[in-house]
Amino acid sequence: MIKTINTSRGLHGEIVVPGDKSISHRAVMIGGIAHGVTRIKGFLKAADPLSTLSCYQTMGIRTESKNDELLIYGKGIHGLQKPSAELNAGNSGTTIRLLSGILSGQKFESTISGDPFLVQRPMKRIIDPLKKMGAQINATEKFTAPLHIVPVDTLHAIDYELPIASAQVKSAVLLAGLYADGITKVIEHEESRDHTERMLQLHTEHKNGNKIISITGGRKLEAGDFEVPGDASSSAFFIVGTLITPHSEILIRNVGLNPTRTGFIKILQSMGASISVVNERNIGGEPIGDLAVTTSSLHSDIVVNGTIIPNIIDEIPILAVAALFAKGRFEIRNAQDLRNKETDRIKALCVNIRKLGIEIEEYHDGFAFESKNDLFPAVFNSFDDHRIAMAFGIASLNLPGISSIQNAECVSISYPKFWETLESLQH
Ligand code: S3P
Repeated sequence: MIKTINTSRGLHGEIVVPGDKSISHRAVMIGGIAHGVTRIKGFLKAADPLSTLSCYQTMGIRTESKNDELLIYGKGIHGLQKPSAELNAGNSGTTIRLLSGILSGQKFESTISGDPFLVQRPMKRIIDPLKKMGAQINATEKFTAPLHIVPVDTLHAIDYELPIASAQVKSAVLLAGLYADGITKVIEHEESRDHTERMLQLHTEHKNGNKIISITGGRKLEAGDFEVPGDASSSAFFIVGTLITPHSEILIRNVGLNPTRTGFIKILQSMGASISVVNERNIGGEPIGDLAVTTSSLHSDIVVNGTIIPNIIDEIPILAVAALFAKGRFEIRNAQDLRNKETDRIKALCVNIRKLGIEIEEYHDGFAFESKNDLFPAVFNSFDDHRIAMAFGIASLNLPGISSIQNAECVSISYPKFWETLESLQH
């Protein structure tokens, strides 16, 4: 599908963005291995979390949608059954990486794979620590999926220093740690999103600038209810859309404001954005609030690098779009892992930004460009990546004439109603 977008005359209104993707995955994964019924309110019904759900269904977990809630009939940490078929993680890196941690501790054989994009993404980052724990995982020669996981007698608890800041790697090791013979510790030098440790209520401590998270093997998990906040990463598109489009003012309700996810708000505020957080509260162990946003004149003379990168990794495409309509030179460094996302996002950003007549420097770990005034409409390539499609959909609001996004249906990975919501704000 090609989505065409006209110059906007302003965004107005109130929206609620769909449930957080990271939390939705984890709620299903934890619920299925807990004892009893887990009720998930606000589960994100988008392709990625639905991949996690279908993998669990293939392993005998019963699920039910009831009155806006998703019910997971958990069977305890040893209750999963040998899958009747290969597990299909679709496009979802979170599904394949976190589930590999759980599968490593099972008494049955399994194979997990995914779509043509997922099978190109690196899996060595989880294979290495899981093998250190004694897991037996076979991958392709390039350490990519399909992953074939063979049962072992016991997994061993390890202390694992994360070589890259990754919540997926951290969570895979912690979930495998549930099946290990002692206390598994993960040591993080740079803090990544902390939903797994919050949802499992794990012991965490800070020492010498590092964060250490511990999990005890064999622990029994009791079913609990999860309320999923609105996805901060999804809200970022409408926040930037409002900031850069003249005469705009919106309110986004119930946005997750976990500090490991909101670095992009701080960066936008430092660029001059008018974003205020109102009605701050807590649901299910996560801070949330409503965000009031109005058109702002942005300046982008900044270099974004260092420890904030893991915190904003999913928002870099939309931050780059904000910088297109700001004054100054915008630079991102230390973000080499952007090349390993749903697509190579550094390349995707460079290709699309060049279409606007802007000179962009591409680095192995980032990019830099100077904004300019006379931009023209373009036909953007989504590279089949939901966040690239949404980012350039937002950029199109502020370009003269009609722009378009190719393969725009890929927004279904995290935000199936994205284009409808965008339209609903334009009056
Ligand atoms: C996620 C972690 C991040 C993020 C992804 C979701 C998670 O990936 O980019 O969208 O739910 O744990 P990495 O762990 O590879 O940084």
